[in-house]
Amino acid sequence: MSTIQPHGGTLINRVAEGQEREALLAEAAKLVQIPVNAWTISDLDLIGVGAFSPLTGFMNQSDYQSVVDTMRLANGLVWSIPITLAVTNDQASSLAVGERAALVGEQDGVIYGVIDVESIYKVDQKHEARQVFKTDEIEHPGVAKLYTKPDIYVGGSVQVLNRPVPEKFNEYYFDPAETRRIFAEKGWRTVVGFQTRNPVHRAHEYIQKSAMEIVDALFLNPLVGETKSDDVPANVRMKSYVALLENYYPQDRVFLGVFPAAMRYAGPREAIFHAMVRKNYGCTHFIVGRDHAGVGDYYGTYEAQDLLRSFPAEDLGITPLFFEHSFFCTKCGNMASSKTCPHGKEDHLTLSGTKVRAMLRDGICPPPEFSRPEVAKILIEGMSEASKSYSI
Ligand code: ADX
Repeated sequence: MSTIQPHGGTLINRVAEGQEREALLAEAAKLVQIPVNAWTISDLDLIGVGAFSPLTGFMNQSDYQSVVDTMRLANGLVWSIPITLAVTNDQASSLAVGERAALVGEQDGVIYGVIDVESIYKVDQKHEARQVFKTDEIEHPGVAKLYTKPDIYVGGSVQVLNRPVPEKFNEYYFDPAETRRIFAEKGWRTVVGFQTRNPVHRAHEYIQKSAMEIVDALFLNPLVGETKSDDVPANVRMKSYVALLENYYPQDRVFLGVFPAAMRYAGPREAIFHAMVRKNYGCTHFIVGRDHAGVGDYYGTYEAQDLLRSFPAEDLGITPLFFEHSFFCTKCGNMASSKTCPHGKEDHLTLSGTKVRAMLRDGICPPPEFSRPEVAKILIEGMSEASKSYSI
């Protein structure tokens, strides 16, 4: 098995099986029902399979408060993002601490799980926003999402009874127990995790391969849960990752598996969260580059790195690998960063998101120094299929 311990020491498994599952399903049909959307179903499932270890359920009040204010669970373990179940006033009044409730898909009526209610509490979402996102402006996509939720949260341990079924790319879904087993079978002692919500461009490839020079393997772990509407859709990105890996990566030193979580856009705090989760998947190292999980100009370029550095290494348990802003330098004739390139901005190939978007919309591939042609081609096709524009 993988040598790295899950966060908190135990890989949580809250997925009920066999007779236990049957019994809980029968019980759930008679319980108070809490409708849950795709985002909450994804959180529930990730708790169930241990990706969010040590969480065994949605946060109760003490963990929530502690995470929001100190970036640690009530027991002191590092945890930076609240994982919560929001309910309306009406729903809350039908629930009671000490009782069990069913978590039912609001779209499909599927019973995804049950929760043993430990606390029901009202929160100050503005405070949560300021702490987690460093802003309470509704223009921030994470804050906007937070404000769509009611401000009453229900905490308690969960059991998963049905797993969400991926529409596509089923073969790239692996639970943490599976990735840990696979990494061990491959004999990888060190694995670097890479989070992305974007197509992999040359700058991403450069930092991944720089990391691969010092570890055994790369776990390319794109986030495929809910993202904002102008991010490239996950199904287009998945095609581009497969093409990229086929053409430019050593097959025996890279593993592609998705991270089916929603994107929070919480910058520095999300970088911590992303690192803890990748530890649970069995990674020993985790890449943090420029403006990790950032959006707009809410966070400083290296703020995520600084926040990670502020925690004692033993509290993180996974080794972050930090990378400077990377680019292609025409004078150097290769990919570089300010750490390795002495030339000025005029020699660096930089393309704004707007410019790249316009090129793709017109069916023009960005230069190969920016994006591999195989990737650009898939993005162009994806854009014309979706007949919409997205930033890359
Ligand atoms: S994120 O929201 O998932 O962080 P993105 O997919 O763009 O966005 O980034 C994935 C990882 O690559 C992050 O760690 C980010 O900091 C890093 N990164 C992205 N672009 C660059 C770049 N040009 N130079 C260095 N690191 C980068």
